[in-house]
Parts: sequence; structure tokens; C-alpha cells
Amino acid sequence: MAEVSLSDKRKEERPVRRVEVCFSPRQFDLYKDEFHTCVVIDVLRATSAICTGLANGVDRIIPVPTVEEARALKAEGCIAAAERNGQIVEGFDFGNSPRAYMSGELKGKTVALTTTNGTKAIDMAKEMPQVAIGSINNLDAICTWLMQQPGDVLLLCSGWKDKFNLEDTICAGAIADNLIDIARYKSEEDSTIAAKHLFLGVRGNIFSFLKASSHRRRLRNLNLGEDIKYCLTPNTVNVVPVLHDGALIDARRIKEGVVKDLSH
Ligand code: MLT
Repeated sequence: MAEVSLSDKRKEERPVRRVEVCFSPRQFDLYKDEFHTCVVIDVLRATSAICTGLANGVDRIIPVPTVEEARALKAEGCIAAAERNGQIVEGFDFGNSPRAYMSGELKGKTVALTTTNGTKAIDMAKEMPQVAIGSINNLDAICTWLMQQPGDVLLLCSGWKDKFNLEDTICAGAIADNLIDIARYKSEEDSTIAAKHLFLGVRGNIFSFLKASSHRRRLRNLNLGEDIKYCLTPNTVNVVPVLHDGALIDARRIKEGVVKDLSH
């Protein structure tokens, strides 16, 4: 009989946890009370930009649901970024293109961010015990981090104006598949089974499959093809943004106990 290693044994001793997918913020109320950790996903482009920003030295990102709140933080001296319908809102210097967050210009800074769907979903999730950010760009990092956390996991797709979208569902399917496949997770909901099978069906081919997606078309019409390519590239960054005192920071900073006060 094969010898069971200590780490295999520890894995077996861990309780089985649940991972489920919520297709749209509109359905969030149906799920929220059953889970410990909520992972908010907005592949095109909010959560990809957040992961990229923190990986490139942005100090923290304050997600706000409305343009008015972003404007108020800007008036207080905070750098503010605002996107609506794929475009930078007038009066703001930044939107949610991940490329803007790579330039170094925002290194060490606090950025207030509002986007059409992503920051609205983060705002909804903020009452949950733990909120983290997922994207295709930080796929391995978010899966590894989740496996080290206690409790059940809800994968919240930001969608488009409360409607289902393909890219967030595929990303949620990839995370759920990973957790169920290599750790002690199970799912009970049909939404999770559907997301997983969608991911498994297109995983070698996500970029071309998503040519048909509505938001990809929207972004292409705005000449944002480079953003799409980047957001659909797995594991460009190794960071897990988590919500801490109203701001998104790199989870490693909490572990290391080096989070400073939140003044900006
Ligand atoms: C959003 O939050 O709705 C998206 O990031 C929209 C976009 O791609 O600009």
C-alpha cells in the first residue's frame, strides 16, 4: 500500500468546504448569508486592473460604487479613476485600463476607483466576512490563497449591468474547478456546475471563444483590443487583493502585519 505523506494526511483531515458561483449581482442576496469569503470577478476589466495595479506597486485601491464618491475623494486630494460604459469619465485622468496601472505613475499611491459593474459588486460584497479579488490574471494566486483560508467560498461574477456574462463565468468556473479538483471543496449549485463545464469546454481556446462576448465587442469598438488580450492572459500577476478597512490591498501585507493607517 502506498505510504500517505503528512501533507496528504493533513489535506484529508481538513473539512470539506463549499465553493459556488453567483452569475450576477442581482442574485447575490440569494447566496450571501451562506459563505465566509466572497471573490469578486470582473475580468473585462475592473478586477484585472485592480490585480495589476497592486502587483505594480499601487499602495491601495479604494473601490467606490458611484462617480460622485470618486469625485469627492478626488476633491480631497486622492488620485481617482472612473469608468462608465468602457470609457474614462470626463474630469478623471484614469479609468480601468490595466495598462494605466502598469506604467509606474501610480506606484505607492492610493487610488479611488469606480467602474460600471466591478466596484458595484465589491460594494455589495463588503458586508461579508472576507472579500478578495479574482481575475484570469491572478488565477493561480487566488486559488492558492483560497485553499489557505477558512470557510466556504462564493465566486461573484460582476456581469454587465446585472446581466450574465461569459468571461466572468469562465473565470469563476476555472477557480471552482481548481478548488474541487485539487483541494477538499464541493459544490451543490447548478450555477457552479454550469460555470465549471463552460470553462472545461473552452479552456484551450478562451481567447477565440470570447470573440462572441458582448463586452469584448463593446471594448473592441472602443479600440481596447490590447486590454482584452491582457485581461484574458492567465497568471500575469501573483497578487491577491483583499478588502481591508474599505480599501483593496495585497493580502500578503495583512499576513506580514505591515498595513499602515488609511490616510491618503
Ligand atoms: C466594469 O466594471 O464594468 C468594467 O470594468 C467595464 C470596463 O471594461 O470598462
